[in-house]
Amino acid sequence: MLGLQWGDEGKGKIVDVLAPRYDVITRFQGGPNAGHTLEFNNIKHILHNIPSGIFRENQINIIANGVVIDPVIFSKEIEQISALKIDLSERLLISKKAHLILPSHRILDQASENAKGKTKIGSTLKGIGPTYMDKTGRNGLRIGDILSKDFKEKYNYLKEKHKDLLKLYDFDFNIEALEKEWFDGIEIIKKYQLVDSEILINDLLKNNKRILAEGAQGTLLDIDFGSYPYVTSSNTICAGACSGMGIAPQTIGEVYGIFKAYCTRVGGGPFPTELTDQTGEILREKGKEYGATTGRPRRCGWLDLPVLNYSIMLNGITQLFMTKADVLSGFDKIKVCTSYRIGNSEIDYMPYDLEEISQPLYTDLKGWETDLSSITSIKNIPSELEDYMRFIEKETGVPVTFVSVGPDREQILTRKP
Ligand code: GDP
Ligand code: IMO
Ligand code: MG
Repeated sequence: MLGLQWGDEGKGKIVDVLAPRYDVITRFQGGPNAGHTLEFNNIKHILHNIPSGIFRENQINIIANGVVIDPVIFSKEIEQISALKIDLSERLLISKKAHLILPSHRILDQASENAKGKTKIGSTLKGIGPTYMDKTGRNGLRIGDILSKDFKEKYNYLKEKHKDLLKLYDFDFNIEALEKEWFDGIEIIKKYQLVDSEILINDLLKNNKRILAEGAQGTLLDIDFGSYPYVTSSNTICAGACSGMGIAPQTIGEVYGIFKAYCTRVGGGPFPTELTDQTGEILREKGKEYGATTGRPRRCGWLDLPVLNYSIMLNGITQLFMTKADVLSGFDKIKVCTSYRIGNSEIDYMPYDLEEISQPLYTDLKGWETDLSSITSIKNIPSELEDYMRFIEKETGVPVTFVSVGPDREQILTRKP
């Protein structure tokens, strides 16, 4: 289950809704740059490292090898969930091959962003980039290392390396001040089952168990196919689920794609349909579009079909789930971008450089007034919303099977069972 835009499509909520239909929920890439929100019983939870199936009683949740974990953020999440009298020890497993985010990774992230000035990516500053750099640079520390006798030595070696790198920047830092909390977090991680998750997951699949893989970020933030360099440092697309869990492509059944009924982006980088006017402001206020991880206001704009089609192609999406339909209530007209103008030509696909787009070209659809938030059956939705989804299906060739009409677990309509 993957995000098809720039993240924050509502993945946390949808995973929570679907979790009872599965035996296992996994996270396979990204780290605490993710903020996945769930709402039920008037409580709101934001998860960063932990899969969004954690509040369901009968499901196992696995943080798989492709994820990068910050022990400090992890232990805070554990604390918040445990406060609800939920015993996580049986429900949560962590791959020994997942990489650790060190305090110095966070500092390197900050120093690097700081040095970029105007071209900064708008990173969440959680140390994601530097941690994946150390993974591919073959310097990283993994969860399995915390059990080894020379863990502290390995840690110190990498920390000193980072201190050398930090000399390149004009940036004040104090790594030692962050270490106690970090090593306390390591002790918390040790209380969980640290496993070879690729073996476990393949065994589960062999035994016909159903696994829901929860993507983080979105396709347009993918390291290979996103709006580079304004992307994150992992493969957020479907292929990332194979490498991030150690499963073969043919084990994947359905590929669910989540998209917002409009678009948002937080951080820097091109955003063709961005609305910097009052309409953008309305979407932000109605949709409460503020980052779940950083609190930053999200940039808002109309739905972008070339982006959606590109994401569908890269992921092999078989079903679409549309979220935040309720936020579009009250607009006279709803615009959907169907092509772009670049110079004198018009294209309906993603160009190499999104910055080249001079103008998004729109089709206008009729809006609706009805408040959707308390609708409980698809039969009662306004005809204009049905037309909106039919238009998307016609343009993408993929069925929209679920529509979300509010943040709560209950606010979901099945369109095509
Ligand atoms: P994620 O990162 O994809 O899990 O999404 P986020 O949690 O960062 O952002 C989605 C936000 O929209 C959260 O505040 C959700 O509670 C909220 N949300 C999810 N689905 C809906 C919906 O259908 N309608 C409204 N109004 N809010 C929603
Ligand atoms: P979820 O899983 C939205 C964005 C950041 C920045 C860029 C790089 O909640 O959808 P990074 O911290 O990875 O170095 O940031 O990617 N970004 C997200 N935007 N949702 C997310 O996750 C994001 N994770 C990273 O804002 O532009
Ligand atoms: Mg989010």
